[in-house]
Amino acid sequence: MTLPFILNGEDVTANTEPDKRLIDILREDFGLTGCKAGCRAGSCGACSVIFNGSLSSACLIPAFRVRGSEIITIEGFALTDDYNDIALGFSMHGVENCGFCNAAKILLADQLISGKKLPLGGEILSAFDGIICRCATGENLAEAVAEAAKIRRRRRHVQTG
Ligand code: FES
Ligand code: FES
Repeated sequence: MTLPFILNGEDVTANTEPDKRLIDILREDFGLTGCKAGCRAGSCGACSVIFNGSLSSACLIPAFRVRGSEIITIEGFALTDDYNDIALGFSMHGVENCGFCNAAKILLADQLISGKKLPLGGEILSAFDGIICRCATGENLAEAVAEAAKIRRRRRHVQTG
């Protein structure tokens, strides 16, 4: 099956098998291995991508839903100023992120601080409940996300001022 879609801002086409999932299309057809295969059942977050504007598990998205969609992976997001806001917030508060959980933590943090209202500490921690990582403490994660929100606000103020 032929699937035209937008991947990290580029028009692309995948020629793929109908029983494939988005995670396999990204990894096998486009070499985007930042999307990791963990549980393959929607419960660990390792395969997180932005799918039509929302954080989604690529392991749950069947090939037919990819046609005409817009997808941002961690590789594409890493080229943006928005990524830098979060990476800086994480590094200032010592948040660990390895290859397994990186896409989930960074993309989720971005979704949280992109909303109209910044979530409070407890709300941030609950949002991260669905991501499997035993390495980072909850406390510094909430602080890091709040810091990233401040960094972004200041950056955008300077850029638009
Ligand atoms: S591999 Fe997709 S949520 Fe775990
Ligand atoms: S830092 Fe990646 S799983 Fe914990």
